[in-house]
Amino acid sequence: MRETIRPHGGTLINRVIEGEKRMSLLEHAATLYSLKIDAWTISDLDLIGVGAFSPLTGFLGEQDYHSVVERMRLEDGTVWSIPITLAVEPHIASGLAIGQEVALVGAQDGIVYGIIEVRSIYHVDQRKEALSVFKTDDEAHPGVQKLFSRPSTYVGGPIQVLNRPKPDKFEEFYYDPAETRRLFSEKGWKSVVGFQTRNPVHRAHEYIQKSAMEIVDALFLNPLVGETKSDDISADVRMRSYLVLLENYYPKDRVFLGVFPAAMRYAGPREAIFHAMVRKNYGCTHFIVGRDHAGVGDYYGTYEAQEIFSNFTPEELGITPLFFEHSFFCTKCGNMASSKTCPHGKEDHLHLSGTKVRALLRDGQCPPPQFTRPEVAEVLIEGMKEPEYQV
Ligand code: ADX
Repeated sequence: MRETIRPHGGTLINRVIEGEKRMSLLEHAATLYSLKIDAWTISDLDLIGVGAFSPLTGFLGEQDYHSVVERMRLEDGTVWSIPITLAVEPHIASGLAIGQEVALVGAQDGIVYGIIEVRSIYHVDQRKEALSVFKTDDEAHPGVQKLFSRPSTYVGGPIQVLNRPKPDKFEEFYYDPAETRRLFSEKGWKSVVGFQTRNPVHRAHEYIQKSAMEIVDALFLNPLVGETKSDDISADVRMRSYLVLLENYYPKDRVFLGVFPAAMRYAGPREAIFHAMVRKNYGCTHFIVGRDHAGVGDYYGTYEAQEIFSNFTPEELGITPLFFEHSFFCTKCGNMASSKTCPHGKEDHLHLSGTKVRALLRDGQCPPPQFTRPEVAEVLIEGMKEPEYQV
């Protein structure tokens, strides 16, 4: 079998415990203090466990945390741009001791998802974290809002995963990094481009994906399906839209659809680096970064998520970012284009804001086919009839 790209940090982490060891650790966990964790933390725990966040073996301790916040690197210098932390209420943290093992238990379902060995307990300045990671402390920013809603005492240490979160739907599209690596290798793909998205795939997305597909062996369409802000289209509806799009417009033997069950941070440039490192762990050799990647509102410059890559050497990134300009349909060219390929003015370019597209879909109207494939629009219109969108 062909060798796949080296995981970030050199080793694909696996902290998912199985078999008899799991049974005995579950018994052991029942004797430990139980810390309640929410869906966001369960997702982080699981992604650490399966190696998607390699080289992390647990939630960040104090030294690594400060290093990540201040210089986008772990203490040992490895590139890492988003703090992955376990936030704990101060009155609970004060009862914990270094070296203690704690059971991590789902707040909603009481399931023991894992165990953490406490190596570090520390208080942080979340405003400073917000300004470094999100470049703003504006509480209207969904990532900042989320950060400020969590306690500012963090607990760090290595974890072990004992139970995996069970997806409600589309379970067949959940692959762990070890599986995608194996599958890409079996298919003989030497180069695979990863595509992050939290949206339906509109024509601009399709254009940059297919431009990338011209130069690599395959596309890994890897939609993020963890927590997103409430006005983003649900993962369920999006999944249906990806399936119908792939069925009609993509070569089956050169595309792989698998979900990324992480929460969206909306950290723009820093999240682009994080997204790239994670996709390397899934076995991608290339990663698409378009305009305003992982951005929200006007917090980041259009190409800031591309510019940030120049802080690192190609060797330390280990995955090749593919940068794309803002793409659109040009009525004069009669095709998809960007300012790199189209000589015409804005008046000839089809532009629809996300808000406008959502309004059209909610009214049961298809956006123009130059913006969204009709098959995709149909799925989205159907999806928009679901109660959560009737606001
Ligand atoms: S994101 O938050 O997941 O980045 P989105 O799903 O909209 O949001 O974008 C997925 C990828 O497509 C990102 O790399 C983004 O930069 C890129 N992208 C989205 N729209 C365009 C566009 N019109 N032109 C170029 N790149 C785009």
